[in-house]
Amino acid sequence: MVLIKAAICGAGGGIGQPLSLLTAQNPHIGEVSLFDVVPSVHGVAADLSHLDGTAVVKGYTKENDGLKHALTGANVVIIPAGVPRKPGMTRDDLFKINASICRDLATGIADYAPDAIVGVVSNPVNSTVPVFVETLKAKGVFNARKVFGVTTLDIVRSSKFVAEVLGKPNEAPQYTIPVIGGHSGKTIIPVISQSQPKVDISGDKLNTLVNRIQFGGDEVVKAKDGAGSATLSMAYAGSKFLNAVVSSVYADKPSVIQAYVYLPELPGGDAIKNDIGKDVSYFSVSLQLGKSGVEKVLPVGPLSDYEKGLLQEALPELDASIVKGVGFGKSSL
Ligand code: NAD
Ligand code: LMR
Repeated sequence: MVLIKAAICGAGGGIGQPLSLLTAQNPHIGEVSLFDVVPSVHGVAADLSHLDGTAVVKGYTKENDGLKHALTGANVVIIPAGVPRKPGMTRDDLFKINASICRDLATGIADYAPDAIVGVVSNPVNSTVPVFVETLKAKGVFNARKVFGVTTLDIVRSSKFVAEVLGKPNEAPQYTIPVIGGHSGKTIIPVISQSQPKVDISGDKLNTLVNRIQFGGDEVVKAKDGAGSATLSMAYAGSKFLNAVVSSVYADKPSVIQAYVYLPELPGGDAIKNDIGKDVSYFSVSLQLGKSGVEKVLPVGPLSDYEKGLLQEALPELDASIVKGVGFGKSSL
């Protein structure tokens, strides 16, 4: 296989640095470009350029057309750029700053890497993905098969927390739990009833478990006490996302992931409104990945009555976040 190029925007940050480290270890990647607005990104790149892997690592800031050089030829771009939460903040509180950062990076992607696969990590994902989509649409390069909100950390947490509830924390990798909806509090809907292997968790235990998955991010924000939010677990999750996408699109190894996508222009996307009883344009769902990116949106599958209740609680907040992101994306161009 031809080695591909990955770009990490926000590579000097808490997520960006470890994500760049993990990305540089993917054997299908020949070049990793690290872009950030802080000059220390050059140090991160110098550091990672000494790894004895396949990847050549280069650092860029805005100086000397850095964004252009970082993005030109990139096959995959991951975006952990922007501010993280402090205790007492919601992800939505980040919108004001991060929406503009996302719009600017989306503009750069449209100009220099219009065919790239894009993974948006910057919060609030429920709104920043619509900002990306609207910007790419306005630039005439939007391809719904290739733009993802990265919700993998919710899936990672679900496996670990389920295993812990069962008293088997070392067995976390064995549990696969779909997580649908969005990436913020009540919009995160873990579908425990579809766990593989099946698990039997109900009543208060189930409530506590679901609440912990939905608000897992707050646990880290509180513990870091003002020093940011999840970085290392996010880099791990981001790397899982990137590896699955790279293998599916470039290495002939199709896979199924869940991510937050724009449904109206995806095969199978229309059917989701019947599955969840509402017409939503963005939703995190199971996706069949292949050479073109998303090949098919997979059905939500049966939900328990409890999960149907979670869905009803999620939809108003999700809707409002989408409207906000779409509005910003349309108005600022
Ligand atoms: P951080 O502050 O440590 O790093 C962010 C980096 O982005 C900084 O180095 C900053 O200089 C850079 N940056 C700012 N503006 C930029 C621009 N215009 N172009 C390129 N880089 C720019 O923050 P972090 O902890 O790494 O978190 C980054 C984002 O990821 C936050 O919005 C956070 O909420 C989000 N996040 C998402 C998930 C998820 O599951 N999707 C998980 C954790 C964190
Ligand atoms: C998370 O889920 O850890 C991230 O979205 C960061 C946050 O703000 O909680």
